[in-house]
Amino acid sequence: MCGIVGYIGKGCALDILLNGLSKQEYRGYDSAGVALMVNDKIEVFKEEGKLINLRNKIKPHASKLLSSHSGIGHIRWATHGAPTTLNAHPHQSTCGKVVVVHNGIIENFKELKEELEKCGCKFKSQTDTEVVAHLVAQEFAKVKNLTEAVCLATKRLEGSYALCIMHQDVKDTVVATKRNAPLLVGVGDGEYFVASDVPAIIEYTKKAVYLEDNQVATIHSDFLGIMDVEHNIITPHIEVLPWESVSLSKMGYKHFMLKEIHEQPDIIRNILADKLHSSDSDVTLDGVNIDKVMLKHLNRIQVVACGTSLHAAIIGKYIIETLCDIAVDIEPSSEYIYRKTLTDKNTLVIGVSQSGETADTLTAVRQSKKRGSHILIITNRPDSTMAREADSLIPVNAGIEVSVAATKSYIAQVMSFYLLAIHIAQLKGTVDESLTAALKHELIMLPMKIESILSHKEQIAEIAKIYSGFKNFVFIARGINYATALEGALKLKEISYINATGYPAGELKHGPIAMLDETMPVLSILMTGSVYDKILSNSEEAKARNARMIALTDSEDEKLDELFEHIMRVPQVHELVSPIIAIVPLQLLAYYIAEYLGKDVDQPRNLAKSVTVE
Ligand code: G6P
Repeated sequence: MCGIVGYIGKGCALDILLNGLSKQEYRGYDSAGVALMVNDKIEVFKEEGKLINLRNKIKPHASKLLSSHSGIGHIRWATHGAPTTLNAHPHQSTCGKVVVVHNGIIENFKELKEELEKCGCKFKSQTDTEVVAHLVAQEFAKVKNLTEAVCLATKRLEGSYALCIMHQDVKDTVVATKRNAPLLVGVGDGEYFVASDVPAIIEYTKKAVYLEDNQVATIHSDFLGIMDVEHNIITPHIEVLPWESVSLSKMGYKHFMLKEIHEQPDIIRNILADKLHSSDSDVTLDGVNIDKVMLKHLNRIQVVACGTSLHAAIIGKYIIETLCDIAVDIEPSSEYIYRKTLTDKNTLVIGVSQSGETADTLTAVRQSKKRGSHILIITNRPDSTMAREADSLIPVNAGIEVSVAATKSYIAQVMSFYLLAIHIAQLKGTVDESLTAALKHELIMLPMKIESILSHKEQIAEIAKIYSGFKNFVFIARGINYATALEGALKLKEISYINATGYPAGELKHGPIAMLDETMPVLSILMTGSVYDKILSNSEEAKARNARMIALTDSEDEKLDELFEHIMRVPQVHELVSPIIAIVPLQLLAYYIAEYLGKDVDQPRNLAKSVTVE
């Protein structure tokens, strides 16, 4: 989704802004732009499409821009107005002197626009953002102070925003502010950076101030001042970012997605090294502040999440209910926040989010926190807004995930649920010793088994080639792998744009079976265990309707060759941890199909890595 970068100092603003934008490209975007202060004049360049288009547009002017030492930049993921050059940020006031970049949505922009147009402001774009440029210009004309003008303008805004603003008449100054969208100010040596995401600035500085809602930072090359909109002075709290300089390198892989799929065994090893040393030892979750007293009063667990994180949560439900005897409800955050939810102080609310910034999930956990629930966040970004507001935290430690389609963060989230379930069971005393010992052993064996799948990936690539021409897919599974069917189908949809649906296999006969014929591949997730025979019967039903049958299985039963046209075989695994094994071939299948179809695997159309609008 959108990304902001700002710079003021002695370095080359153009290079720093373009580099900062390139480090946020992975978030998904459709246009880009920069504004630079060049010899006391603001110069704006913007272009639709990828960053390379903007670079090409700037190239003929580069020599005069290189001397600029301050500027702001943006990559945009369209919400209001098509992804065109005109709608790209920065936006300017009618006089051209105010420039603004914005993440979020200004919900009352229509009313503000009408009002501003009546005052003579000329709008050039269809965006909600442009009102901010005009409002700031209007206030600046009255108060002649940029910080004050920003305070006054933002008081008029409803919705969410992270803003970075410059005014041509205010030299050596960038103003930044936020509400319900992340923004940080990087502190360098005689220079400052603004960013909506750490990778944009981490190669320049590891020191940063995270702005709180309604704080306004006034940044000069040698001074950072922060106050809130009521003019209370805030002492900047400089933190050391828990990040190494991020090398966004594909390490020889054709795409980040393929690289990230291959990182999964080591991620599991690292998680286990940190939290579960052997099958005899207890799980240690340092950031989880849940105790026996709390568990005694706990009547339910609610898990809120979106997209792939929601699928990890569904597996979490199975495993927590199995090991801990506590009822767990799962809900997409976007549904949870607009209905009456029976959440109270005896509910544990778990928010699952790779980015820790997804607006729907953030709103959901904030609502529950207000009702007194303990908030546990499972995230890949311990520096995110959700993590910072959590009562308990499980950082999944998957490392930065660049591909928009989540793979390694999903496996790490699912792993976190296993460890959390064992941890709660230990505390609660509901531990079935033999089951947890078996489970721990199986978790420890996972990396090796995934490596064995990866070493045979060519077989999956072959199957992908055969099926890449189909327009529709159905993935079926039951029990703990129902979420695997959903996630496998989501991966295919996201990166190949093929219509793929995940179904509980038993539901096939209640409607979807009507779609089946020789044009419809049915992929059965047939892991050995309690529901194996049932899925087998459901697969027979599909075969009887001439569907093209594919199996993903850990069974060595040769009779499967009669039922299925193609079989993806994986190492045998305990049913309870089978989702971690079963998802890997499905990630690869989606990857290779998208590859054969020539799709933009790492940055699929219309998608964003982190969705910071509701
Ligand atoms: C976006 C991404 C998905 C992701 C979802 C939830 O839609 O494209 O890959 O699963 O957001 O993101 P989160 O960061 O909360 O896990």
